[in-house]
Amino acid sequence: MKKHNPNGISRRTLLTGAAAAGGIAAVSSFIPTRFAIGGQHKVKIGILLPYSGTYAMLGNSITNALKLRIEENGGMLGGREVEYVAIDSEMSVPKTPTNTNKLVGKEKVDFLIGPVHSGIAQAMAKIVGGDQGPIMIVPNAGSNLVTGPLCAPNIFRASFSNWQPAWPCGEVMANDGHKKIVTITWGYAAGKQMMAAGRDNFAEHGGSSIKDILVPFPDVEFQAHLSEIANLDPDAVFAFFSGGGAVKFVKDYAAAGLKDNIPLYGPGFLTEGVSKAQGAAAEGIKTTLHYAANLDNAANKRFRAAYKEAFDADANVFSVQGYDTGSLLISAMDAVEGDTGATGDLIQTLEAAQLTDSPRGAWTMSKAHNPIQDIYLRQVENGVNLVKGVAAAALEDPAAGCKMA
Ligand code: PHB
Repeated sequence: MKKHNPNGISRRTLLTGAAAAGGIAAVSSFIPTRFAIGGQHKVKIGILLPYSGTYAMLGNSITNALKLRIEENGGMLGGREVEYVAIDSEMSVPKTPTNTNKLVGKEKVDFLIGPVHSGIAQAMAKIVGGDQGPIMIVPNAGSNLVTGPLCAPNIFRASFSNWQPAWPCGEVMANDGHKKIVTITWGYAAGKQMMAAGRDNFAEHGGSSIKDILVPFPDVEFQAHLSEIANLDPDAVFAFFSGGGAVKFVKDYAAAGLKDNIPLYGPGFLTEGVSKAQGAAAEGIKTTLHYAANLDNAANKRFRAAYKEAFDADANVFSVQGYDTGSLLISAMDAVEGDTGATGDLIQTLEAAQLTDSPRGAWTMSKAHNPIQDIYLRQVENGVNLVKGVAAAALEDPAAGCKMA
């Protein structure tokens, strides 16, 4: 995959994208009125995402598609040119205050985009949430807290809460006739929250977990855990891993001889963007997620073709989230005619967002600032995550503890 480089977007893609995105002509000839006085500095977008380690693929997919969406808009937001300042989060929670302050305090970014990792999201929300912080759009990290107790008027999410893609999977496992599962995940916020959601809904449908295994993040030493699972002999296993760790886990699971005897389930991150690398080990795995490669809508077909053309790689849920982050920025900045100081109006537009043209299908913003969206049942066939049905329609996160909801 090419890196997050706007030059990686081919000219042909830009033309195709511009032609396809209806409002382009109007936008490029648009003369901002509110902001015309006093000159126009570029709109500065600060990005804090992982570009190294187990989640590097996620960070690159998000960044590529965010830039693709803005390039389709003539490289502009509200009639102004755009400048990006990106920092590698290194998936480090301890480095988060320094990284966030670099973008907000030193670079004085107009918008903050990030992160992928739930622990980092919680740390960022504590720093920027409130009147003084810039508008932050989370293009992945699912921490339930960020749209729960840590929710704030200036924090929005274009992705999911950890509860959302995990909860419906509990019912899927029960419907497949399973009664006893083992759960296994990385022992940090995202893994723990997804495990709890999947397990709770499984329990509501009569099942139970006989063992919950937590692996330190981002370790990929699974052998001892796989032996334990073989000994426990559950009906099924529910797992959250993602990126490089998901490739290793799914391959190790098959190599340990478990695949044919104890079916593997999980939130769709388990096979998302990595199913080709997992090869035969991924075939047949059922997951639940707010996206599938073959969703039959025009926006998805156009997006996948444009992404492939630009980056010579297949789009995935992470790129969809980056793309939709771009769409949110475009609609908000159009509404204020490029005036980044109009915070109240920007927030109002984002709160009213209705993404009718998203590759994942239409979604709206909840009161807690999290997508209300369909969660699909998918299954890997010939290396592709194919949609098998809707596991939960227009699913809204409970947003427990959020005072805005
Ligand atoms: C998270 O830490 O919130 C996270 C990371 C990777 C995923 C999903 C959630 O695929």
